[in-house]
Amino acid sequence: MTSGRARPAVLVARRVFPDVLAGLQRHFEVEANDTDEVWSPEELRQRLQGKAGALTTGSERISAELLAACPDLRVVANMAVGFNNFDVAACTAQGVLATNTPDVLTETTADFGFALLLATARRLTESEHFLRAGLWNRWSVDMFAGAEVHGSTLGILGMGRIGQGIARRGAHGFGMRVLYHNRSRLSPATEADCRAEWVPKADLLAQADHLVLVLPYSAASHHAIGAAELALMKPTATLVNIARGGIVDDEALAHALRTRQIAAAGLDVFEGEPTVHPELLALSNVVLTPHIASATLPTRRAMAQLAADNLVAFLVEGRALTPINPDVLTRVG
Ligand code: GLV
Repeated sequence: MTSGRARPAVLVARRVFPDVLAGLQRHFEVEANDTDEVWSPEELRQRLQGKAGALTTGSERISAELLAACPDLRVVANMAVGFNNFDVAACTAQGVLATNTPDVLTETTADFGFALLLATARRLTESEHFLRAGLWNRWSVDMFAGAEVHGSTLGILGMGRIGQGIARRGAHGFGMRVLYHNRSRLSPATEADCRAEWVPKADLLAQADHLVLVLPYSAASHHAIGAAELALMKPTATLVNIARGGIVDDEALAHALRTRQIAAAGLDVFEGEPTVHPELLALSNVVLTPHIASATLPTRRAMAQLAADNLVAFLVEGRALTPINPDVLTRVG
């Protein structure tokens, strides 16, 4: 329990686990969001008045404009590894520490990437819908024949921790040849551990039987997969996006799927989510999930706890566990 001076006030922008909230309440005056509504930017701005910290999710945009209107804010702790909802430069300029939740979700998210790859290549949801619709009346030699996964070529665009987890699953579990493209190459030791080979992006697109996107979203990665990139892929290829909407041009992807320029896609993230491009919804050769790659209870608990621990570490002890802009620490330290 913090004693003496008035306790700092923090905002928890979405519903989290009660024990995580209780932990925060031991240190702070906490305003929570029990209804779990996504607040408008204006409502978020109002609720942040007088708050020293905020626990946010990808749904809350921390913009330069918002920061300028919230002079008491000192730390924003995102319950996500991605932080494209933060204007990090504006946070730094304003002396606001920004944190995220790396590591705790790596293996869970890599599991899901592989699940989506398998579901897409082996036409899992399409065949289940067929069965549930009462259309299954006989065995047939090529019914829902999909693409081979074991022994095929796995391409990974973005080779951070999650990409490496997917590479290891593919190489060691499914005997896949693993190619990757990333701005910087992995060390030879990590490449050997992942049994992964760096190739230029065009080669990755042309050679992958299954291409998984795991790169962070930024202006530089906006529409990293558009019409030109899709045109380089094999007509038998599958594309899996567990990174962020906006990395793929959804309109171009819908066209490529409709015209069978590529075979299928598995998508956990979308441009403008939770709205999904209507053409994607209408296609059968796409597996769609609602941004759940990190969604196991142990992992979501670990993410919420790490975000909360970052608020406590900074506001109580002046340090941070997983800072995005650690420069702020040296300035306030
Ligand atoms: C989820 O999308 C995350 O960035 O953690």
